Amino acid sequence: MTYEQAKALLEQKGQTQLLKYYDELDEAGKNNLLTAIENITWDFEDALANPADLSGKDRDIRPINGLRQAKIQEKKAEFEAIGVEAIKAGKVAAVLLAGGMGTRLGVDGPKGAYDIGVTKPLYIFEQQMKNLLDVVKQCGVFVPLYIMTSDKNHEQTTSFWKEHGYFGYPETEVKFFKQDMAPAVDYDGKIILERKDTPALSPNGNGGWFASLQRAGLCEDLHKRGVEWLNIYAVDNVLQRIADPVFVGATIDSGVNCGAKVICKTNPYEKVGVLCMDGTQPDIIEYYELTDEMANLKDENGDLAYCYGAIMNYLFRLTKLEEIVDKKIPVHIVEKKIECLCEDGVTRKPEKENGKKFEALAVDLIKLMGSVLPFEVVREREFAPIKNKTGVDSVESARELLKQNGVEL
Ligand code: UTP
Repeated sequence: MTYEQAKALLEQKGQTQLLKYYDELDEAGKNNLLTAIENITWDFEDALANPADLSGKDRDIRPINGLRQAKIQEKKAEFEAIGVEAIKAGKVAAVLLAGGMGTRLGVDGPKGAYDIGVTKPLYIFEQQMKNLLDVVKQCGVFVPLYIMTSDKNHEQTTSFWKEHGYFGYPETEVKFFKQDMAPAVDYDGKIILERKDTPALSPNGNGGWFASLQRAGLCEDLHKRGVEWLNIYAVDNVLQRIADPVFVGATIDSGVNCGAKVICKTNPYEKVGVLCMDGTQPDIIEYYELTDEMANLKDENGDLAYCYGAIMNYLFRLTKLEEIVDKKIPVHIVEKKIECLCEDGVTRKPEKENGKKFEALAVDLIKLMGSVLPFEVVREREFAPIKNKTGVDSVESARELLKQNGVEL
């Protein structure tokens, strides 16, 4: 793209601030900026002009049926046999969503490279791979692994995995792909400059993971291998069970398009979004959207009717994903602290929120999948998220849970 083309485009879009420092840049900087402008995806304009209605009103919300632990234990052997057979036949792949920036944890670089060890190094990626290797051992085959990164952490992530010998996995079974980026804007909708030659871009949420995987040409690889199910999981949870044969078996057995690992709420007002039905479609309802009556509603067994909190571990049927990949999911507009070029020419992260980012969320795919099986896991055994350094969902709380589960730190 030439300077003239960029100027014409930005004038039309009302974004000429991106060229404010163009004349000060050297040749490399000029090229960098023009390429960045050429690569901007403009979907955010529509998201700003027509924000998705995420209020939940006008929905026909009802409880969803799920599999509770008691039932799972009763049918464990049966589910496990189905799951093991599918994994052995190469029908299950794992997809690690690791494109996020982990801002709450406050580390530079990939969150999975964070060392949670106490007496020896233990990286988040490493702990998760130990969990996956349990399944490999049980089934006698490697579960192909696809890892989503973003422009912000791709090089660091791929070299970290290489340096650590892919944590015991063969290199051929691990493939990386990058998610898309979206511009960050100020409160007037103007794209923020991070540096004189760089617009502020950030990963566009974990909701576009399948489209990005497809764009990277990896669907071909999936089909070649005979994969039918994709188990996506988040990088934060160090007790994450990946390609869990019992979960895989229960999902396949139930005939749904999607299985969702869930934890059951411990009290009616716990702050987690829960799976539900919206008419005939599965959906998620945020805790602040539940009325008192809904929050306290009991099922025939006396348990909370709206209790299934999703933990970002889903098993998706590949053919259904391919069918829905072009359908729109809502874009969430989130206020964040965005690194920006300050008046004095230095790039800094502000003390408080200074703009908006645009994110699609994986959980919004649930509705499009048409059917979902909530599958209850024991919270203390499978849920140790690391979002913060200390306090709730932190390195500290995760370490405690790992210890309780016999992991040496
Ligand atoms: P979070 O919602 O916790 O976001 O991601 P985050 O970026 O890691 O952390 P904060 O909010 O900045 O503190 C849940 C999962 O989704 C992935 C993350 O890597 C994590 O595994 N994710 C998130 C992506 O892959 N891409 C994104 O754009 C956002």
